[in-house]
Amino acid sequence: MDFQISQSFFCFSSFVFFLLLSFEPSQASNADHGLSREAFPEGFVFGTAASAYQVEGMALKGGRGPSIWDAFVRIPNTIAGNATADVTVDEYHHYKCRSNIKTASNHKSDLITFCFFFSSIYDQMIMQEDVDIMKDFNFDAYRFSISWSRIFPSITPYANLYHYDLPLALNEEYLGWLSPKIVDAFADYADFCFERFGDRVKNWFTFNEPRCIAALGYDDGLHAPGRCTGCQAGGNSTIEPYIAAHNLILSHAATMKRYREKYQKEQKGMIGILLDFVWYEPYTYSVQDKAAAQRARDFHIGWFLHPLTYGHYPKSMQVIVKERLPKFTKEQAKMVKGSYDYVGVNQYTSYYMKDAGVVDTKPVSYQADWHVDFKYDRDGVPIGPLANSYWLYIVPWGLYKAVTYVKETYRNPVIIVAENGMDQPGNATLPEVLQDTTRVNYFKSYITNLKRAMDDGATVIGYFAWSLLDNFEWRLGYTARFGIVYVDFKNEKRFPKNSAYWFKKILQRKSN
Ligand SMILES: *[C@@H]1O[C@H](CO)[C@@H](O)[C@H](O)[C@H]1NC(C)=O
Ligand SMILES: *[C@@H]1O[C@H](CO)[C@@H](O)[C@H](O)[C@H]1NC(C)=O
Ligand SMILES: *[C@@H]1O[C@H](CO)[C@@H](O)[C@H](O)[C@H]1NC(C)=O
Repeated sequence: MDFQISQSFFCFSSFVFFLLLSFEPSQASNADHGLSREAFPEGFVFGTAASAYQVEGMALKGGRGPSIWDAFVRIPNTIAGNATADVTVDEYHHYKCRSNIKTASNHKSDLITFCFFFSSIYDQMIMQEDVDIMKDFNFDAYRFSISWSRIFPSITPYANLYHYDLPLALNEEYLGWLSPKIVDAFADYADFCFERFGDRVKNWFTFNEPRCIAALGYDDGLHAPGRCTGCQAGGNSTIEPYIAAHNLILSHAATMKRYREKYQKEQKGMIGILLDFVWYEPYTYSVQDKAAAQRARDFHIGWFLHPLTYGHYPKSMQVIVKERLPKFTKEQAKMVKGSYDYVGVNQYTSYYMKDAGVVDTKPVSYQADWHVDFKYDRDGVPIGPLANSYWLYIVPWGLYKAVTYVKETYRNPVIIVAENGMDQPGNATLPEVLQDTTRVNYFKSYITNLKRAMDDGATVIGYFAWSLLDNFEWRLGYTARFGIVYVDFKNEKRFPKNSAYWFKKILQRKSN
């Protein structure tokens, strides 16, 4: 069972492109499954996603302080090829607000917002080449995350939207997410960003994949800060993941409260959270396997979305984790319940779930608490074809089921599918790498299933492909390419792949 390894890989995100769809007629062939802008409801948003640490570069420059990832990647043999993200795909030097974009103010797009946003926070950050790509490929808006440690290089307690890159100083001072002190620190940082940028930024997320922050950072130690039972950095896998998750939930809710009380009425923005979700299909239709699949969903997305919707953890978690599971006070539960305007769901793959049979109930880890066996095939038939990464089975119907499950289990929330995509090997070369037919088919089939879930009643307002650019892929370093645009890591040159052209075609609008 290699979920300890595999769970690290569906933890992505934070730089996200938005494409605002205008729904003018365009031709989409049958080969595109009838997909086009007008196949989706008015106001639907399309985009791509990435994260600050994965794409920015200038890691220790431009006034940025170190994050926990800067320290983590320097531990020998941690990242494939001992790679760092000091330069990565150097977005820092590929952003520039060009005057013709800046002045196109009659075209009110989030792309312009993004441009102003970045040029104001990241003084030297310029946006040029990548804006050209967005425009050329019919993207006209951009959603993004902010590097907390670039804005506040010291431990000044102003916190903000978060993508794995905790300021190192907060980890050293009080173990970051393990301390309740982080709640106000994060809310203060977010408050700063709302105050300063909220007039222009109308779409916010508090966290990307808090489950991965807690599970990979504190259960198996595969992500920074690399804590677990027996890990060199210290840790305790039976309790720390739950404490970290609890503080993440409280930080999220406290931030939501600030936004709603101080800013939302005037700024009229929306705010939510980004949750990773693998679809878990019962291995057999036995009562035990069905229960195992339900437990897996509870421990995965339910860990966060259940409290955010209902004010308490899922029953199955309470029963299994018992006193190791922190409790919300009455007041906290009130703050947590209902604390999102929309929920981002990051969805890539699906697995079968089998009951683990008789289990030792001695606490071992968050993952062991699931009491399940992961299965990737039935009678030798894989759940779907593999992408480059061994964990990424291509299962389009899993997206349909995941979205429908969220709709049915959590009171039909407003959903954004916030990440979806697949990878090619890191050593794939030009020009073959640009012929990414499998990826084109991946997007076609997943987006078709998304449409089906919407037709069946899910309230989905946006879709983001992971990712615009090939980039630094956490533990995998530069050995996995998720981009619809190829990047030559030697000189950071960009080359759109066929999948980028496919989006361009699907998203084209009549010019006026
Ligand atoms: C990573 O660094 C360690 C320590 O310097 C070295 O032993 C190892 O060979 C390096 N691995 C690669 C793939 O370069
Ligand atoms: C982990 O924490 C639990 C609960 O406090 C404790 O019983 C256990 O001994 C700790 N394990 C380790 C390895 O420190
Ligand atoms: C890419 O790397 C894989 C795994 O290390 C190797 O098997 C394959 O031959 C490489 N391909 C190329 C084109 O170098």
